[in-house]
Amino acid sequence: MTIPLVASTLPLPLVRRGKVREVYEVDAETLLLVASDRVSAFDVVLREPVPHKGAVLTQLSAFWFERLATVISSHFLSADADEIVARIPALSDHRSALTGRAMLVRRTTPVPFECVVRGYITGSAWAEYRKSGTLAGEPLAPGLVESARLDPPIFSPATKADVGHDENVTFTHVVKALGRILAEQLKRASLGLYEAGRGYAAPRGIIIADTKFEFGTTPDGRLLVIDEMLTPDSSRFWPAKQPLRDYLAGLKQDGQWDGNAPPPPLPREVVEATSERYLEAYKRITGRTLELG
Ligand SMILES: Nc1ncnc2c1ncn2[C@@H]1O[C@H](COP(=O)(O)OP(=O)(O)OP(=O)(O)O)[C@@H](O)[C@H]1O
Ligand SMILES: [Mg+2]
Repeated sequence: MTIPLVASTLPLPLVRRGKVREVYEVDAETLLLVASDRVSAFDVVLREPVPHKGAVLTQLSAFWFERLATVISSHFLSADADEIVARIPALSDHRSALTGRAMLVRRTTPVPFECVVRGYITGSAWAEYRKSGTLAGEPLAPGLVESARLDPPIFSPATKADVGHDENVTFTHVVKALGRILAEQLKRASLGLYEAGRGYAAPRGIIIADTKFEFGTTPDGRLLVIDEMLTPDSSRFWPAKQPLRDYLAGLKQDGQWDGNAPPPPLPREVVEATSERYLEAYKRITGRTLELG
């Protein structure tokens, strides 16, 4: 039985500790991302790690980066612990923190927008449509019902908030901030990745309702898709039990949690059901067995 990892501590300079990943510097062109088993919901990081979650996120992203490389190149270099240790000998004593969950990537300058694509209308998009008949500020066909499929899918970018919730912005806003050429590239790549991913996952029993991509630029001016891709953390996977969010939403409804840190403790059944959900998504999409750390 593998021991869940709350946080990695590797002998490399730590660039950033996100809600889920540690980002280490390998050299000027290369980063090492380590996906922990931390779980966040409603923008709060829970105390209990979810077994196998980090490995699912890393290996599912690696699967998509390779499969969808024809749409756009990614930052992916390797998720193989042997290759990573061969490249960075200082990590040879830290294999258990790497196996299955570490990814060596090309370092980029991240584009400061979340590139969201929606193929079904739900969540904040449904709220906007109900209020003003628009999505990302653009008018949408009238009469859509909640969870309706959107054909074609819609690019609906958001700002990257350092703290708190991301905010939806219009495509025009992205054009003004980044210039038309880059904005159009982001939109085209996001829609291409989403449509290919949605088409691949659907016959395998998972509807990817919406998702968020991140992109970065290299010093020589290439645009790459970075971070994680088409995972249960960056996307809404349907049909899916949402044991963790359902449990927390119940506590909020009953007035037992106000939605802010510190988070409430999670019962063991909720942690186990959440772990199962990640493993199931991995198995359905890739048809492979997860490499356990
Ligand atoms: N190739 C890359 N080049 C540069 N930065 C990257 C690259 N890939 C991922 N990142 C960054 O690494 C971080 C990954 O950490 P994580 O996913 O835990 O954080 P996050 O979701 O952005 O932040 P948080 O959840 O804390 O708000 C992100 O800030 C992401 O933008
Ligand atoms: Mg992230």
